[in-house]
Order: sequence, then C-alpha cells, then structure tokens
Amino acid sequence: MGFRIIGTGRSVPQRAVSNDEIAKFVDTSDEWISQRTGIKNRYISVGETLNQLSAQASEKAMEMAGVTADSIDLIIVGTLSPDRIIPSAACELQAAIGAKNAVAFDINAACSGFLFALQIANGFFATGGAKRALLVGAEVLSKMTDWTDRGTCVLFGDGAGACIVDYDKDATVTFSSGSDGTKGDALCIDNRPLNNLFIKNEAPLDHTHMDGQEVFKFAVKTVPRAIEDAMMKAGIKAEDVDVFLLHQANLRIIESVAKRLKRPMELFPLIMSEFGNMSAACVPVLLDIQVRNGTLQRGMQTVMAGFGAGLTWSAAVFVY
Ligand code: UT7
Repeated sequence: MGFRIIGTGRSVPQRAVSNDEIAKFVDTSDEWISQRTGIKNRYISVGETLNQLSAQASEKAMEMAGVTADSIDLIIVGTLSPDRIIPSAACELQAAIGAKNAVAFDINAACSGFLFALQIANGFFATGGAKRALLVGAEVLSKMTDWTDRGTCVLFGDGAGACIVDYDKDATVTFSSGSDGTKGDALCIDNRPLNNLFIKNEAPLDHTHMDGQEVFKFAVKTVPRAIEDAMMKAGIKAEDVDVFLLHQANLRIIESVAKRLKRPMELFPLIMSEFGNMSAACVPVLLDIQVRNGTLQRGMQTVMAGFGAGLTWSAAVFVY
C-alpha cells in the first residue's frame, strides 16, 4: 500500500532578494554565493506569516486536487520556524482553511521535515487513521537568520509547499530515513533561554549556526546511501528512476549525489537559484513546480530526498 499525490501548491513572500542586494549588507558577492551554492535569489518575508504562506500553498493544492478542506483528515506541517510555539502551525493551518475533520500536528525534522511528514502520513494510511492528508513544508527562516553572518545569511529563503495525498492500496512506496543526534551542533538554533522565578537570564534569542563543511560532508555521504537503500527496498536501480527531487541546499551537493548514483544532472531539477534553501519547504515547492510545468508525469518513477539539521535524512521511492 502507499499513496497518490493528487494536488500540489506553493507560496513564497513577494519580496525577492538578490545576491547583489545581500552583498550591500555583508562582505560577500554574487560570484561567491553562485559558485559555492548555486543560489542567486531568495524570497524574504516582510510581513507574510508562515500561516499565510501555508494556507495559500494548501488552497492551491486543494484546487488542483479538486477537493474541499472538510475532506482532509490529516494535516502535518514540517517546520522549524512556526509562527507560534503553541498552537502548532498545523492547527493554525487547519483553522485558516477550515479543515474541521482533520487531526493536525507539526513535526520538526528541519530540512527532512516534508519527507518525514510523508512517511508519517503513510503510517496513518496503513493503520486506517486517515485516507486523505494535507502535507506541508513551510519556513520563515529569515526571522532566525543572523543577518550579520555571511556564512549562513546568504543561504536561506522563506516559502511553503503543500500537497494533498490520498491513500492508495495499490500504490507502493519505500522509505529510508535516519537521524544522528550526536552531530546536532553542526546546524543549530538554541531555544529561548531558561528564565523563571529562580534564574534570571538576559541572553538574547539565538540565531542559526552552521558548520557548513560538516553538514556538506554528511550530505554527500548520507543522501546517496539513503536513496540507494530506498531503491533497493523498492527493487529498482538508479537507471529506473525518472526524476530525483532533492532538498535544495547546495548545487554542489546535488552534483555529488548525481555522480555517486551515476545519473545525469538533467534528472535532478534545481530551484535553489531562485528560492535559496527553504529547509522543509524545498522538496514540496520543487514538487509543485515539476507538476505544474508538466515535467513530472503520471507513472514516473520518482525519488525524493531531504537532509539537514538533527542531523536527519530521508529518501522515498514511489511512482507519481
Ligand atoms: O539545508 C540544511 C543543510 N545545509 C547544508 O547542506 C549546507 C551544506 N554546506 C554548504 O553548502 C557549504 O559548506 C557552504 C555553502 C555553507 C559554505 O561553502 P564552503 O565551500 O564549505 O565554504 P567554507 O565554509 O569552507 O568557507 C570558505 C571561505 C572562508 O574564508 P577563508 O577562511 O577561506 O578565508 C569563509 O570565510 O569562504 C568564506 N565565506 C564567504 N565568502 C564570501 C563564507 N561565506 C562566505 C560568503 N561570501 N557568503
């Protein structure tokens, strides 16, 4: 058993920010950012909330699927940057779109969030807990970014991607997911400091810290392994795959994965040039673009993979 993706959508803030514009604020250049990452642009919130972006992406996904909000019985939002700590982004999304029959919750698996959401939804399908899910990857990373740190602020963007996924008893999907908490410090943001009646703490709120090379090494080693494992479980080889939808952290990481799998770069669509790294939103936004431009066709053997803070990773193999 598995699922069928019946609708997709995306939304990004209106404000586009080029590399040249960032170079006015920190010591960097379009040349450095483009060559090292493949990123040329990103969208940054100037007021759009995660809830607004998620709701817009979800409305588009529902419209494509031709379904109403009350037919959705599971909502999972993968995010590390919800508008509020409680209620969850998923519960706020439920209220915004009127999905009154859904159970709704968030998961924080950073850039793997959308893939983990897909795997959890598949578990709900398997146990009869849901028949139709709305899965969202959404981030407003800009509020957590240290805009004086050129090592991180050039990388990230804001946005949301959504898809409507139906249970399908005849479909198959395989996953290969994992985590390595011992490497958590490689990409981290501390929560608000402990501050109560008994301890006073004036520390400011923390921002994103990343050991880029550590995360890079992890990604180029772990992502191909996860994809190979998911393909092995599915009984297919890399040559059988029509498209690889990968998390868009860095062009060089995707080139390395393609090389390791011995597949041409044409099978790895890229969107980091326009959107930057939107963490959990990357894969569903990429999915929506491929569906809407007709590149992703029914029957295509598809691989999706995410990786990031935790450290976490996940790959899925399914037929679109
Ligand atoms: O989505 C979550 C997962 N995240 C990732 O997958 C990120 C993985 N890591 C990466 O994509 C890359 O490591 C980065 C793009 C973050 C950095 O690229 P790098 O090739 O690993 O550069 P580096 O950190 O080794 O820095 C090389 C040099 C340094 O200068 P020195 O020490 O050689 O003089 C940095 O200070 O580049 C400098 N540098 C910059 N220069 C201009 C770092 N950031 C910048 C910048 N502009 N924005």
